[in-house]
Amino acid sequence: MSSLHIIYASTSGHTEFTVETLAAFLREQAPDIAVEVQRAESAQPEDLKRGDALLLASGTWNTGGVEGQLNPHMYDFLVDRATNVDLGGKPVALIALGDTRYHYTARAAEHLQQFRIKHNGTQLLPPFVLVNEPYGQEEKIRAWGGKLIAALHGKKGG
Ligand SMILES: Cc1cc2nc3c(=O)[nH]c(=O)nc-3n(C[C@H](O)[C@H](O)[C@H](O)COP(=O)(O)O)c2cc1C
Repeated sequence: MSSLHIIYASTSGHTEFTVETLAAFLREQAPDIAVEVQRAESAQPEDLKRGDALLLASGTWNTGGVEGQLNPHMYDFLVDRATNVDLGGKPVALIALGDTRYHYTARAAEHLQQFRIKHNGTQLLPPFVLVNEPYGQEEKIRAWGGKLIAALHGKKGG
């Protein structure tokens, strides 16, 4: 597998930092994989089909006034604009962020999984859930990045 399209939403910069750290690691460790990064605000439904594999990343927010939801920009994209997308079995990886100060910690992971299942995506590897600020957790990000590379190369991704 040779290309990965990343779509992320980030309001206070945590998911953006996580995605940037991951993308830098992938480009360094697996230059054969072409990595593209796009913000959810600028994404169109057809962008979900770009690349051999898709990575969606979002923090958890109180979108609509209830905690445990997707970031509002990811919600607008996945739930409002991409309602009719068929991923056709495309391999999908997921990153969810959250904070232990909230009861529904990192619940964005479940919303992303529901989107993948509902829209006929295949799980490329188990989601990466990052709790609390990403700063100082770079090794965790890179460790998951190593599994992602293995999965993209068709090895056991676990
Ligand atoms: C208004 C607001 C609501 C939040 N709600 C939740 C929540 O329900 N569950 C959770 O785990 N984290 C919650 N968080 C924490 C964020 O998910 C966390 O800080 C995340 O790293 C933010 O990522 P971002 O900067 O990429 O948007 C909330 C943060 C804010 C500011």
